[in-house]
Amino acid sequence: MAAPLFSPDLLSPEVQAALPEGYVLRALRRDDHASGFLDCLRVLTTVGDVTEEGFQQQFDTMEKQGGYYLIVIEDTSLTENSVVATGALIVERKFIHNLGAVGHIEDIAVARNQQGKKLGLRLIQALDFVADKVGCYKSILDCSEANEGFYIKCGFRRAGLQMAHYY
Ligand code: ACO
Repeated sequence: MAAPLFSPDLLSPEVQAALPEGYVLRALRRDDHASGFLDCLRVLTTVGDVTEEGFQQQFDTMEKQGGYYLIVIEDTSLTENSVVATGALIVERKFIHNLGAVGHIEDIAVARNQQGKKLGLRLIQALDFVADKVGCYKSILDCSEANEGFYIKCGFRRAGLQMAHYY
């Protein structure tokens, strides 16, 4: 089994205990190309044709750069596509707030046939645990109006206004 992207010490025991039986919380691994991880992301947006080599190169880049915490929830009763939910925390180091760090929550996705089982909530709780452990003073995210209710249930509140330049 390939090494995980980050240490298992950063996985919340409370979140693991709250998952349905047979579901496991873990870090993304280098061998997750065909585990269902990319299919989870397809419920969120276009993923494209990611080869195994491309997946591994991206994984290696994230690992080397540091500050990337991609988690998955796996349904161990499934023999294929067992990864059924995923989310990411990217940590931005700053000079302000006494050399503080901000967590960016990104790419939260639960397989369509697994939605409504609190897996989305567990992902956010797991990422909050990582953010706290690695020293973030806050976590922020962008979402559509349609998902605002979900994030409010997860304890977030509206703050600020997003602006963008697209290239
Ligand atoms: N609007 C309002 N409330 C919601 C929504 C919503 N869109 N989705 C879930 N909820 C509520 C649930 O009813 C539940 O409430 P309860 O505690 O009163 O029962 C609570 O939020 C927790 O719901 P979960 O069961 O944990 O939600 P789920 O596992 O289905 O995950 C998610 C929610 C992640 C939005 C999922 O539907 C999904 O993957 N959607 C497609 C991809 C997507 O839009 N991802 C978010 C992108 S934004 C980002 O990545 C930063």
